Amino acid sequence: MNSFDIQFHNGQFHLFSSKVSYICELHKDAWLLHRYWGPRLTAYHGANCPEPVKRTFAAADPEEPAFSLEMEPQEFSCPHQGDYRESSLALRRQDGWPAGRFRYQGYEITEGLYAPEDLPHIRPLDGKGAKTLSIRLRDEASGAALTLRYSVLEDSAAIVRSAEITNEGTGPIWVERAFSALLDMPYDGEELVTFHGTHQKEFQMDRRLIGHGTISVGSTRGASGPQYPPFAALCAPEATEHSGEVRALQLIYSGNHCVRVERDQYDHLRLTTGIHPEGFSWKLEPGERFQTPEAVLVYSGQGFNGMSQVFHQLYTERLFPRQWAGRTRPILLNSWEMCYFDVSEEKLLPVIREAAALGFELVVLDDGWFGHRNNSKSSLGDWTVNREKFPNGLTPLLDCARENGIQLGIWFEPEMISPDSDLMRAHPDWAARFPDDAPLLGRNQLVLDLTRREVQEYVLDTLSGFLRTYPVSYVKWDMNRHMTDPGSASLPPDRTGEFFHRYMLGLYRILHELTARFPEILFENCSSGGGRFDPGMSFYMPQTWCSDNTDALDRQSIQYGASYLFPPSAIAAHVSAVPNHQTGRMIPFETRAALASSANMGYELNILDLSQEEREQVREHLALYKEERDLILGGAFYRLRSPFDGNLCAWMLVDRKREKAILYAFAASYDVSCLSAVLKIPYLDQKKLYVERNTGRRFSGEELRYAGLAVRFPQGDFPAIKIVLQTETMS
Ligand code: DGJ
Repeated sequence: MNSFDIQFHNGQFHLFSSKVSYICELHKDAWLLHRYWGPRLTAYHGANCPEPVKRTFAAADPEEPAFSLEMEPQEFSCPHQGDYRESSLALRRQDGWPAGRFRYQGYEITEGLYAPEDLPHIRPLDGKGAKTLSIRLRDEASGAALTLRYSVLEDSAAIVRSAEITNEGTGPIWVERAFSALLDMPYDGEELVTFHGTHQKEFQMDRRLIGHGTISVGSTRGASGPQYPPFAALCAPEATEHSGEVRALQLIYSGNHCVRVERDQYDHLRLTTGIHPEGFSWKLEPGERFQTPEAVLVYSGQGFNGMSQVFHQLYTERLFPRQWAGRTRPILLNSWEMCYFDVSEEKLLPVIREAAALGFELVVLDDGWFGHRNNSKSSLGDWTVNREKFPNGLTPLLDCARENGIQLGIWFEPEMISPDSDLMRAHPDWAARFPDDAPLLGRNQLVLDLTRREVQEYVLDTLSGFLRTYPVSYVKWDMNRHMTDPGSASLPPDRTGEFFHRYMLGLYRILHELTARFPEILFENCSSGGGRFDPGMSFYMPQTWCSDNTDALDRQSIQYGASYLFPPSAIAAHVSAVPNHQTGRMIPFETRAALASSANMGYELNILDLSQEEREQVREHLALYKEERDLILGGAFYRLRSPFDGNLCAWMLVDRKREKAILYAFAASYDVSCLSAVLKIPYLDQKKLYVERNTGRRFSGEELRYAGLAVRFPQGDFPAIKIVLQTETMS
């Protein structure tokens, strides 16, 4: 038997890899029913199918009274057909009537992945297999066709799903809801894990019981948002970081989204995800198609760390831009918390020289360098260098960086327009707005109407021109407000519900073009930190500034939370000054450095202000990070102790051969719990002997797993420790 495949037998579709099986079945050659999603099965005979029983109140055909969509586990659902649970698809015809009595028509199995052109997606990969099942259904009355796509990937416990609606009729059809995936299963005591957050407090974990009714999380902000990133996991009540069943999904999308979990009156559990239906509608003319974003479904039998391994591996191999796979990421110094808007050639030249001397590899010129921008009130859209601050343009900075052997990076906020800008004066209709209402400001700015081709072209031309004039190595792509007034002068009345998704398509087009034109530039994603940290943006930009909160205590939970979905290479973390600019906390330098150095490290403080002793410390941090960087950004990341559960937080990185591990542990404050902290480490090779670098103590992988490692925190608040373990043969 193949290690991964899709088979169709006796009306059953079985997708499997070595790690997962996904099964759905045709009923009477018309309806598509869900059967199974879990560990790989070699055979399935329908053991989990309850015997159909006729129920009072259920809508059923008298020919088959025990078959009602209300009771059946499905793969998608349209309203008004007896299934009263959350639907995943809603269509309306030109005459105003709902449509969507979809019946099975046929299927196709193809090699590889579907990879929708205008949306971010899981990438096909040379040398690694994938297969895709496309199941086609049709609603005869309206002429709407529905294609459900499922991909299975070699060596992965992930399944990729999406849906496509085609208008094969003669009149227009409006798509009013188009979710990417729907999953039905019997409720078995599962709990729901989602993340919540806000600006400066992203990725806070929520784990809750699932009562009857619907739980819905998502975003209507025009961005995925820090409030509820597009993720949800159903887990067994006993599931931990290390064990137990977890079924998770993420949407590869950066706009309005939702995840809904419903437990119905029969204790069926339904999980759906897709574009948020609020305000959404999409007109399909005859012959047109609508493709949903992809949803990634992950099964883990090894708890949440098992789930994260699948996401991390999948995204590293098949989501992040290929040119950055395995490539060294520069250690950067960012100007924001050093200068805020007060940047200038005079200030930056000595910073570049000193940064190079300390071992930095890139200096980033953040906000404040363009137009007449001295605060957040002006100039977004006017991407020309401010000659008062940089009288000679940016060439002196680039020259200085090159002479000192480092790189230069730059900040943009390309999706925005300031009311006080030349761009606004020239194109007042380029700001998104409703025709009769004054658009609302956020951080003193408006959102550019990226649904319009000419606005997309402006952004592309302006940025491309800039990047050709000033060949920087890095671009930080920021978005500092979410949307209101989702209106475009170019959308006709029957297409106003298309604004949000058209905006995303416009943005993705810009990102696709720009990253293709400048493949050598490292793009970093940012939306006031993690305001749009999702797999959609990560398709174009391999790293994200995950929070504007640089406080090394708050950051523990933010980075811990983000690690459920993303590997350390995707999480940018900076060492900043004390007292911390967001919280006022005084956290020791070593703790700040340990925290940042366990992800994609940078700094964001005035290095010219450092004492000689601090300079030496920075030099050492950077030198050590360079030594360990391959392991940190390329190894496997495991969470060991949750900051959401108490005073301690711990995680580790292990190289792929399990020969070297770096363990980080942090305490929120020093208290008695620090005296007896023991961390169980189930992720080393049990047969190997490990030596602790600083002490020379030896431990077996087996004992670290079952007995655990006692860790000793230094006294004082906010202590951190870092332990390096290496197999004996390597030392
Ligand atoms: C928000 C970002 O997260 C910050 O790092 C900085 O780039 C500012 N925007 C600049 O306005």
